[in-house]
Amino acid sequence: MSDKRDKKGESGAGKLWGGRFSESTDSFIERFTASVGFDVRLYKQDIAGSIAHATMLAETGVLSEAEARQIIGGLEAIRADIEQGRFRWSVALEDVHMNIEAALTARIGEVGKKLHTGRSRNDQVATDLRLYVREEIDALRALLWKLRSALVDLAEREADSIMPGFTHLQSAQPVTFGHHMLAWYEMLERDDGRLADCRKRVNISPLGAAALAGASFPIDRARTAELLGFEAPAANSLDAVSDRDFAIELAAAGSLIMTHLSRISEELVLWMSAQFGFIDLPERFCTGSSIMPQKKNPDVPELIRGKTGRVHGHLVSLLTLMKSQPLAYNKDNQEDKEPVFDLVDTLKDCLFACGELIPAIECNRKAMREAAGKACATATDLADYLVRKGLAFRDAHEATGRTVAFALARGKELHQLTLDEFAGFSKLIESDVYEILTVDGSVAARDHFGGAAPGQVRKAIVRARAALAESKPD
Ligand code: ARG
Repeated sequence: MSDKRDKKGESGAGKLWGGRFSESTDSFIERFTASVGFDVRLYKQDIAGSIAHATMLAETGVLSEAEARQIIGGLEAIRADIEQGRFRWSVALEDVHMNIEAALTARIGEVGKKLHTGRSRNDQVATDLRLYVREEIDALRALLWKLRSALVDLAEREADSIMPGFTHLQSAQPVTFGHHMLAWYEMLERDDGRLADCRKRVNISPLGAAALAGASFPIDRARTAELLGFEAPAANSLDAVSDRDFAIELAAAGSLIMTHLSRISEELVLWMSAQFGFIDLPERFCTGSSIMPQKKNPDVPELIRGKTGRVHGHLVSLLTLMKSQPLAYNKDNQEDKEPVFDLVDTLKDCLFACGELIPAIECNRKAMREAAGKACATATDLADYLVRKGLAFRDAHEATGRTVAFALARGKELHQLTLDEFAGFSKLIESDVYEILTVDGSVAARDHFGGAAPGQVRKAIVRARAALAESKPD
């Protein structure tokens, strides 16, 4: 058998795991199996995890105090090197973990080789990813908070601005722009709750599960969990190294956020069109056309709408990645990082963009009010009026429907009909009908919890502000 040990007499061409290998890794396979191209993003978490591990090993007597001090000092110096762009990452060293460990030994000598006592890259990477996700959840919630506040501010500004409410994208009943903004707010408040809930299950420490079965040294898993700010150590070592539910949960919560942002974006795009003309966005959020000189395109909401697919895709990737995986760690799991990184980046950009966009919305109140009064949008109010005059709702609906058909055929709105014309459909209609047919009357009538009346919108704003105060990021 040929011995392909390298010049230094090391096996596996100097790999940290090279002991049992006599052949060096194929160069394609080296590149194919490496993750350092993307997991460098976990360097901070990796070093924090290693420092906690070394601290605990010294406390439990596995390492001497002096050894731990050297290791920790070395890790801190490596962190500084990375942050100042002095660190040379090597694909041959496969991933962020082995790059840092090799650099540690190169820097502090033999004692560096003791850091990996009682742990494995399997619990290490799971720990790093949880630390990363935890931090990013906090960042996402802070961005979400800004956006939610912006919506409440806008709702307050436009609490009395009448606009058409739609079902099937057909004029349905008048609402206010403020009420509509608070509908968006509700979606995002649920999103915040989902992130907060997901964070609880993220914040569990896999460290000490080692490769899969735990470690044969007197390790203190509660201590490393505490040092890293985790709530508790994971209860089962096999589950600890294999679980990626937390990443899937983040992707699921993130997918819903993107679904919501895409719905918001879609409405902004529609409302900005000449056909709706409800809102305008400042030019700094728009772009022009290279051929049509008149164009001012809502690129930002369009792009947010478009980026939704990426995040939804990452959710499916992660679900599929985990499907049918046997316990415990499998190399498949290396594929969890790129979707997680990209979904976090995408969400942060989109939430930030939305947070900037919302306060900049300029409402065309006149156009919205005019549109709200069109297409017999207060027909339900006429039916309700007839009910209050004693008709059963179904009969009132029928009489109103016939009135609407009559008005539409003559190109009139309901309030433009004469009492004589109304009399052809119901004798119950009197001159007081005109007041309830106005858009203001219609909105004001929906005066109960959750309704569109401006007074109710103001009460909802007070509730939203209280919820915001409670979830304010530090
Ligand atoms: N780069 C690997 C990952 O991202 C680290 C863990 C590797 N563990 C192993 N047993 N090969 O999952």
